[in-house]
Amino acid sequence: MCKFIDKEKLVLCALKAKEMSYSPYSSFNVGAALLTKSGKIYTGCNIESAAYSPTNCAERTAFFKAISEGERDFCAIAIVGSKKNVPADYCFPCGVCRQVMAEFVKPDEFIVLVARSVDDIRKYTLEELFPYHFKM
Ligand code: THU
Repeated sequence: MCKFIDKEKLVLCALKAKEMSYSPYSSFNVGAALLTKSGKIYTGCNIESAAYSPTNCAERTAFFKAISEGERDFCAIAIVGSKKNVPADYCFPCGVCRQVMAEFVKPDEFIVLVARSVDDIRKYTLEELFPYHFKM
């Protein structure tokens, strides 16, 4: 199911989602694309709020969209982010998003792709990025 992951396609979807970013306060635009085991892709962007703390990261937008549609099995997520008019650097998921991912995936199997472009992709497992996550 997750044997072959089309990394470039997933990053392209994340780049497209980034265009939808609502980030008037930080001007930091983030896009994410989440691949399910059935091959479906859910995208998300960051959505900011004037009150700041209600802001939702792109990764969680993608996860919450998928979960709310009944999806429970995931292979990978691609993440891209950059400040307006600044060349993209690798955009790693924040700690809150890592904990949310850990809620729904097997950390040693789930792939996190961070990319500067379709030609510059880094690949990790969630376990590498977030070992010993909190669980009850
Ligand atoms: N952001 C994300 O969308 N994902 C992350 O993993 C880290 C940060 C967003 C939140 C906020 O809109 C902006 O980036 C600056 O923190």
